[in-house]
Amino acid sequence: MYKIAVIPGDGVGKEVMEATLHVLSCLNLDIKYSFADAGDEYGEKYGEPLPIETINLVKDADACLFGAAGETAADVIIKLRQEMDFFVNLRPVKSYPGTNALFDDLDFMIVRENTEGMYVGEEEYTDEGAIAKRVITRAASERICRYAFEYAKDNNRKKVTGVHKANVLKKTDGLFKEVFYEVAKNYEKYGIEAEDFYVDATAMYLLTKPQNFDVIVTTNLFGDILSDEGAGLVGGLGLMPSANIGENRGLFEPIHGSAPNIAGKGLANPTAMLLSAVMMLNYLGEKESANILDKAILEVLTEKKYITQDIGGKSSTMEMAKAIAKKIKV
Ligand code: NAI
Ligand code: MG
Repeated sequence: MYKIAVIPGDGVGKEVMEATLHVLSCLNLDIKYSFADAGDEYGEKYGEPLPIETINLVKDADACLFGAAGETAADVIIKLRQEMDFFVNLRPVKSYPGTNALFDDLDFMIVRENTEGMYVGEEEYTDEGAIAKRVITRAASERICRYAFEYAKDNNRKKVTGVHKANVLKKTDGLFKEVFYEVAKNYEKYGIEAEDFYVDATAMYLLTKPQNFDVIVTTNLFGDILSDEGAGLVGGLGLMPSANIGENRGLFEPIHGSAPNIAGKGLANPTAMLLSAVMMLNYLGEKESANILDKAILEVLTEKKYITQDIGGKSSTMEMAKAIAKKIKV
């Protein structure tokens, strides 16, 4: 039996979580869910957006499903990543048929460093304005670069692209780039190519020749921005899942936020959350269930009959989820 912590959070987080739990209930899995609070709504009521009980539930679980937080995202999801040392953020950019993808042939992985960089949360006001600290350590850079190359090796990927801005951020990204190539040397024997680009150029290449990317590894803020661009390439935020992975635990979440502009209306696309559940099942070693779920999602997207508005359909969140659930035959 798996212990799964469930944090629906705010806005559409709750809706896509309900949809996902419905679909998961159709698979032959032995899961015990424990529900936990976090986010704006909880914070307003109780003064703390991420209660210690929630952190403890995540610590106690084999994996966690997370919906979305709102304005408290920094105090909730960023804090959870740091607290749990979820040092990897895996963000697959994959074109699915039947979506509004700008390109129909994309399949690359963004490996984002998840614990430091611009997101250490150390900012202060000064007389002139404000200052933010950007922390890049050798240890965290090495760990994330090694993860990216190991990922490439295990998943038959041929190239890893290190993304940075070392021409301007000479010390922080200078270090990141140096470590990237140190790690890359150990993977030459596996035939894995290493290249590096500046982040601004990468932003353009993602639009002009995204097919050239295989695995991208980068620091926290750049990974956050480039993965939303990746979402734009494959049909929008409603389709992009992610995995936060630590030494022996994982947290799985769509990359989108609480989407207040569509929240509470049944308009949210549940695909990003469902694909995050696929990533969770793979992480837990439940490959068969992961494949069944992935195939069911793909079928519903391809048929275009029960899809949400963001990708050109008319169905509600739950209608799409129910159509996916129906495809699951176990
Ligand atoms: P957002 O990701 O919530 O929404 C951006 C756009 O994508 C909106 O147009 C929204 O309608 C659309 N969208 C998002 N999810 C969708 C879905 N499942 N189906 C269809 N369309 C979807 O980002 P935004 O608007 O910048 O931020 C809203 C709130 O979310 C903020 O309070 C922010 O702090 C929070 N946030 C939380 C994150 C997290 O919990 N991991 C990540 C990003 C933002
Ligand atoms: Mg983001």
